[in-house]
Amino acid sequence: MDHFQIRGGVLNAEDVPLPRIAEEVGTPVYVYSRATLERHARVFRAGLAPVAEQSGHEPLIAFAVKSNPNLAVLKVLANEGYGADVVSGGELTRALAAGMPAEKIVFSGVGKTRAELELGLEKQIGQFNIESREEGCELAELAAKLGRTAQATLRINPDVDAKTHEKISTGKAENKFGIPLVHALEVFDELAHLEGLNLRGVAVHIGSQLLDLEPLESAFAKVGQLVADLRQAGHKITHVDLGGGLGVPYKAGENPPSPSDYGSMVARATDGWGVHLAFEPGRVIAGNAGVLLTRVIRVKRGGNGPPFVIVDAAMNDLARPALYGAWHDFDAVEPSGESMTANIVGPICETGDTFARDRECDALQSGDLAVFRTAGAYGATMASSYNSRGFVAEVMVSGSQYAVVADRIAAAAIMDAERVPDFLS
Ligand code: LLP
Repeated sequence: MDHFQIRGGVLNAEDVPLPRIAEEVGTPVYVYSRATLERHARVFRAGLAPVAEQSGHEPLIAFAVKSNPNLAVLKVLANEGYGADVVSGGELTRALAAGMPAEKIVFSGVGKTRAELELGLEKQIGQFNIESREEGCELAELAAKLGRTAQATLRINPDVDAKTHEKISTGKAENKFGIPLVHALEVFDELAHLEGLNLRGVAVHIGSQLLDLEPLESAFAKVGQLVADLRQAGHKITHVDLGGGLGVPYKAGENPPSPSDYGSMVARATDGWGVHLAFEPGRVIAGNAGVLLTRVIRVKRGGNGPPFVIVDAAMNDLARPALYGAWHDFDAVEPSGESMTANIVGPICETGDTFARDRECDALQSGDLAVFRTAGAYGATMASSYNSRGFVAEVMVSGSQYAVVADRIAAAAIMDAERVPDFLS
């Protein structure tokens, strides 16, 4: 459920008609709904109630900042008691700036630099998810030097097929993430003895946009076995991080498991583990809490197919269709009731700048407004300035109010950061 609904023939974000935002802020623009974010945050937490009950601990829910790092979005989630899963110093700094307490921050990622590890130590974040023996040794050494103890888990690679798009699958043996299960005991043993590290558990994340719980359940079963083996080997295991990955519906007919289906599965899979659990949801919280609002520049007759609806948003603003062939519903802001079949494209000079082909959609003409739905996760954050188009603006709606939460960065401002060196004049 989201708060983007037609009222009096016009698509609203909560109580704000989208044409007002288009008029006042311009297009393209991402529009987020605070009420939807809050709703999703609460529904996800409620889904985990059986887990909390069974383990006797409130789980840590660390929002995957990569899915939507906007400060206002992070602030909404901080207010909901969420922590943050970060993968760079930049994300760590944002999470802190949004008021997320350091102890609720988890640092993931295969390529944390020395400076990033230091930053995490300095800020005393809650957990480092270590992805290699080498990283563990480096973290231990830095922590010991600073007189700190890094709280850490070892991320394992369970070699499970998440059955999602290959580019967002992370738990197969050939993926770069985590420690292969066959090496887990040996690496854990080595790192657990290092001064500066409190290696207290394991972490896993097998991929994103999962529409089936089975791969998650089989990964969690492997984690459960590893926890038992580690304990058998004398290690004290108190924390397990089960990552994110729960999918969302992008189009009619897609029926991903609900947070409560997910929570029941997790409670079943983790029964008897006796650990503090952490989760790193991104898309399921932010995806349907945002749309990309765009205006039709013109409609051009097709060659031997449907017309091209050319919108002012492009692949630089919303990369998912070009990168993953992803589907985003496309709806008129003031639907006439008529429909058309169209190729929906942006202005960028490559054929990859296509949002949809042969799409049955609301009839649109030059000047009309439309939205790409489910754009709140992995939308603005993946924008670029390709074709010197500048960076897209972001707005948050709350009831009948709205605010610009990220300015549009004009192409001219980006150009201002460039120099022509003297040796060229
Ligand atoms: N934790 C870790 C360690 C991750 O790598 C990710 C996502 C998440 C949590 C959050 O996963 P979620 O709950 O959002 O599925 N750009 C792609 C998605 C990349 C996901 C990368 N990792 C897309 O637009 O589909």
